[in-house]
Amino acid sequence: MEYDRHGVVTKAREYRRLVALVYGQTGSGKTVLARALLMERVKALGPAAVGVIVDTLQEHVDVPAIAPETFENFLGLDSRRGPRIVRVLLDTDDDFEQFSTDLENSYTAPTDGRKRRGPVVLMIDEVSYWSSPNKSTIGLSRLIRYGRHWQVDLIGVARRPAETSRELSSQSTALYIVGGIVEPRDLAYMRQILPPAAMTISESIGRFHYLKYSTDGTYTLLPPVKILGH
Ligand SMILES: Nc1ncnc2c1ncn2[C@@H]1O[C@H](COP(=O)(O)OP(=O)(O)OP(=O)(O)O)[C@@H](O)[C@H]1O
Ligand SMILES: [Mg+2]
Repeated sequence: MEYDRHGVVTKAREYRRLVALVYGQTGSGKTVLARALLMERVKALGPAAVGVIVDTLQEHVDVPAIAPETFENFLGLDSRRGPRIVRVLLDTDDDFEQFSTDLENSYTAPTDGRKRRGPVVLMIDEVSYWSSPNKSTIGLSRLIRYGRHWQVDLIGVARRPAETSRELSSQSTALYIVGGIVEPRDLAYMRQILPPAAMTISESIGRFHYLKYSTDGTYTLLPPVKILGH
């Protein structure tokens, strides 16, 4: 079978997907932490991996931007030049849907070798822009549900755990809480997820420190990440 010959099926099966959520109040250091996680994951996935930041609020000005219409071509380029990070400026739900289609097509194009690509690690800063607890924009929803088959990891960043897409949180393999949670409904929500001891820690996390909770039940309190480039 053509797919097997290219190893696509095998790769998809072996792929252990990362779905991470970074929570914290305004200014707690979520964006900084998520960028560090993105870099770490892209490096770990090897030279073919690409990190993509969905930068709706145009915060990540130090990262090269690519226009959504050239994204599919970008992914199809020879990716053996080392880890790369780019950002896309998605504005509308239609943009997001097109973007998710590009991610699918660039991975599954059956015989055209130039189009096949390595893993993509997608960081969605301010993920609530694209979702509420019960509804995600179509593009995001497709990525949550099927991204694993297209080797797309997700790192979502949100201020409020209780207001984050449940579709996304239900798939998450790791939660990061930066700088503590104080809002009563968010605390109540997190109490249902975290073991009591982790919850106690999460109530008194120092500035820029963070709790990493993996859905296998393990948790660790970690010191501030070093700001990249400093
Ligand atoms: N690990 C860190 N060490 C030192 N400074 C940090 C660290 N993390 C964040 N900061 C600083 O704190 C400020 C806020 O960080 P950041 O933008 O990551 O917060 P945020 O949670 O994403 O905020 P917002 O909710 O407004 O998006 C920035 O000026 C950043 O440089
Ligand atoms: Mg931020």
